[in-house]
Amino acid sequence: MSRFYRVINIVGARPNLPKIAPLIREMQRHPEIEPLLVHTGQHYDENLSNIFFRQMGIPEPHINLGVGSGTHAEQTAEILKRVEPILLEQQPDLVLVVGDVNSTIAVSLAAVKMGIPVAHVEAGLRSFDRSMPEEINRVLTDALAEYLFATEDEAVDNLRREGRPPEFIHLVGNVMIDSLLHFLPFAEQSRIGDELGLRDGKGWQSFGVLTLHRPSNVDSTDKLAEILGAIDAIAQHVPIVFPVHPRTQQRLSQGGIRHHPQLRLIQPLGYLDFLCLLSKATLALTDSGGIQEETTALGVPCLTLRENTERPVTVSQGTNVLVGTNPSKIVAATEQILRGDRKSGRTPPLWDGHAAERIVEILLRGGLRGRSRVDVT
Ligand code: UD1
Repeated sequence: MSRFYRVINIVGARPNLPKIAPLIREMQRHPEIEPLLVHTGQHYDENLSNIFFRQMGIPEPHINLGVGSGTHAEQTAEILKRVEPILLEQQPDLVLVVGDVNSTIAVSLAAVKMGIPVAHVEAGLRSFDRSMPEEINRVLTDALAEYLFATEDEAVDNLRREGRPPEFIHLVGNVMIDSLLHFLPFAEQSRIGDELGLRDGKGWQSFGVLTLHRPSNVDSTDKLAEILGAIDAIAQHVPIVFPVHPRTQQRLSQGGIRHHPQLRLIQPLGYLDFLCLLSKATLALTDSGGIQEETTALGVPCLTLRENTERPVTVSQGTNVLVGTNPSKIVAATEQILRGDRKSGRTPPLWDGHAAERIVEILLRGGLRGRSRVDVT
């Protein structure tokens, strides 16, 4: 009798969705795998969650834990509590988590304590900055998972240095770039350029894209005002489109920060509209992790408004420059790009659109062995 391997895939927050989409698609091509999808509900807004499911053809989650927002402890604890009965009931052969959000560590912890093996996609990335909540999530998830799928050599080195067994570590490439390459032709059809007046009969005008949502940049009104002051100076020369994350919106609403009219604050965008804008932008300014990778794959200059990055390959090989948050440095680095002095880059090895295939092949080769279950009571 043939055996089905039940894999529970976890998503919680927006950046998880472009990572899970190619993995689910690939698992669906293998009849011996039964992929289930569990959404923790960490993100729940239409623009942070639902629109991504529709545009990327991700199947409806089988279960939504509906945890919503809260402090780190509340959110993590609520996910732990709510996912355990699901794991007990579904008895998966494997739990697959992606990225570094609270959902990633919470579900990994619940699973390993039940003897269920965990696969971590995007393992080994390290900013070495423990003030970032994501860094804690990464270190802990990698200590628990036994399939560690890495996007870049530096991540492999980090995992080895932390003593993770070499047979657990696999350099497979980048599933987010799988999504980017798959959806780019669809993103080309987006009307967002016309809607924002960035494109006319002659083509696209020069513009920048800004995203900001890291607590270190947006949770203090003074810090956010300082960064936006620099962006305002840039917006006098080139329009900057700024899809505003809800965390950032809360601070902006409280802070009453004024800005230049060419700094265009808009609602968070769906995947295809955002990918379209990013691919046509003259530059991106961001504190996101994923956008550092996407701009590298697109060959678009990226200025990262942080002091460190957990994705060093985007700097050593890609188009990313770490400028930090000093306003004069942000303005100077932008002016350099607008003058045409752009850092050239290349796409890192294995960022070729086939990472999900490699991951599923490794999982199947590993036998997705059903383990003896541990009694959690
Ligand atoms: C989370 C992740 C971060 C990721 C980011 C992408 C953690 C620790 N952080 O940060 O790594 O880069 O997602 O967006 O997991 N909110 C809404 N609607 C939603 C969700 C949140 O309005 O659908 C608001 C809530 O007021 C919430 C705030 O945004 O308090 C922050 O949400 P939260 O999930 O705590 O963290 P993010 O900043 O989104």
